[in-house]
Amino acid sequence: MNFAPYIPQLVRQLRGISPFGGDIQPARVPLFAPGSGRPTLPFPHPWNYKEPITLLETYFWGADADSGPGRHNRYLEVPGFSPIFVTRDPRVIRAITTDTGDKPGQFDRDTLPTTGIARATGEDSLLYSNGQVWRNQKKLSAPPFGKTTLFQPEQFHEFAATFRHTVMQRLEALHERLNFSGQSTIQLALEPEIKAVMLEMLTNNFFGCTLTYEEIVARYVPALERVIDHIVRDTVMNRLGIPLRRIPGFTRGLARIKEDYRAFDELTDLVLAQRKSGAGLWRQFKSDVPDVALRSNIKVFLAGALEATTSYASWAISHLARNPEAQEKVYQEIKGIDDYTPEALDQAEYFGKALEETLRLTPALYFLPRRATVDTEVVLSDGSKLTMPAGTHVLLDVWHANRHEDHWGVGVTGYPALDYVPGRWDNLERGSKENLHFGFGHGPRVCPGKHLGQLEVALVVGAIVKIFRFRALRRQNHVKAGVSTKPADGVLVELERR
Ligand code: HEM
Repeated sequence: MNFAPYIPQLVRQLRGISPFGGDIQPARVPLFAPGSGRPTLPFPHPWNYKEPITLLETYFWGADADSGPGRHNRYLEVPGFSPIFVTRDPRVIRAITTDTGDKPGQFDRDTLPTTGIARATGEDSLLYSNGQVWRNQKKLSAPPFGKTTLFQPEQFHEFAATFRHTVMQRLEALHERLNFSGQSTIQLALEPEIKAVMLEMLTNNFFGCTLTYEEIVARYVPALERVIDHIVRDTVMNRLGIPLRRIPGFTRGLARIKEDYRAFDELTDLVLAQRKSGAGLWRQFKSDVPDVALRSNIKVFLAGALEATTSYASWAISHLARNPEAQEKVYQEIKGIDDYTPEALDQAEYFGKALEETLRLTPALYFLPRRATVDTEVVLSDGSKLTMPAGTHVLLDVWHANRHEDHWGVGVTGYPALDYVPGRWDNLERGSKENLHFGFGHGPRVCPGKHLGQLEVALVVGAIVKIFRFRALRRQNHVKAGVSTKPADGVLVELERR
């Protein structure tokens, strides 16, 4: 190997000179900072990978004392490695997401933080791939989820009716549990219920399978949960990239996770088997590619969509459970709505704001990874610039951008950034380029499942609010994070029938 081209970079790195240029000069984060009180080291390792939000926080440790561009833009550089740039500046996030795609010189999605996902689903999925493979996958797999397909009146009514039926059946079962207990209230963690109903909607209503609720709850939900946990662990720990199928199941844990991956494969087979009959979404799917070309995407849709929709709906319930006034306002608005057409949802303005505020304060995907493919200049809407070298790993820290007082606080929106206030959106235009919270991403790699996800979440949250009054059992609303974020208490609430 010829090391000559790397020597100038190594010399610069050893001299501690920043690789970044332009007006938005990020501040350097030290690799080790003994005595600083910093919560952890600024890279994932076996002791901190379960705390990814704390890891991101490390980059901004003490940054609020900085009044320059380093306040929201930081970098880490270790000699011999590509720099890591982390930003919580919405203007920079917007510019970089807009400039991510398959055109020459554009950013790629960085595959480094998602190697575990690729090992579990395949590398050619819409989520993991870049360049031409990504473009082909997008053309192939995104249209059935798009607004125009999903909201064709006939199509929409069919989905909405089956979705509603599924959700109501599950909530009636909860209601019966409440009656059976003889009490007027019941205490339970709602996240598992939400997850099961989300998987049922996806597999049965959307992909046309006929799984029983018992199979979903007893086999597929727990298997997918463990696969997702394993993906996070595998990304950090499996540096050699050894596929699980090559590792013998000699411990009980390994044998179980191998069985979980088999259940994931089995579920993917069941979904793909519906293609021939044209059930559910498959009627909209016009392509003659073989099933094997769709496999990795179906896996991403099953695991990823389940994670993201469960996170979004869980957070929405979790916030409303701590804000009785907001909950009551949502109830008053939606109690007369039975049909969740886009028009009806547009009318339910406060409900829309409550959901928007949920994604802002507690986004399901808390960071968006990118990689500079060439030496790149990023230009913001006000003309200011940032240059970075080819190979830079970029972490767009949406979680901290959305929670910073500078961007969403009293001075900008009228309310503290860390408070859950749907009314914040009274004076903000939702979806405007100036108020982006990146809950579904932005630019060419924006979420293709946005409309499906919004519909599912509105149905589930709407139905729960309509049937029950609920109250959080813990005041604090802490976060746990892995592939997505979730309320740490599992949405522990006390439910009471309305
Ligand atoms: C409602 C909850 C959902 C949320 C909050 C959400 C969020 C996101 C976000 C933030 C991204 C952008 C990631 C990035 O820029 O790096 C994304 C991408 C993606 N989402 Fe979603 N998503 C949701 C539901 C879904 C559903 C229901 C599906 C499919 C059935 C889906 C499939 C995907 C795929 C395949 C990508 C990658 C797109 C690409 O790279 O071109 N998502 N999602």
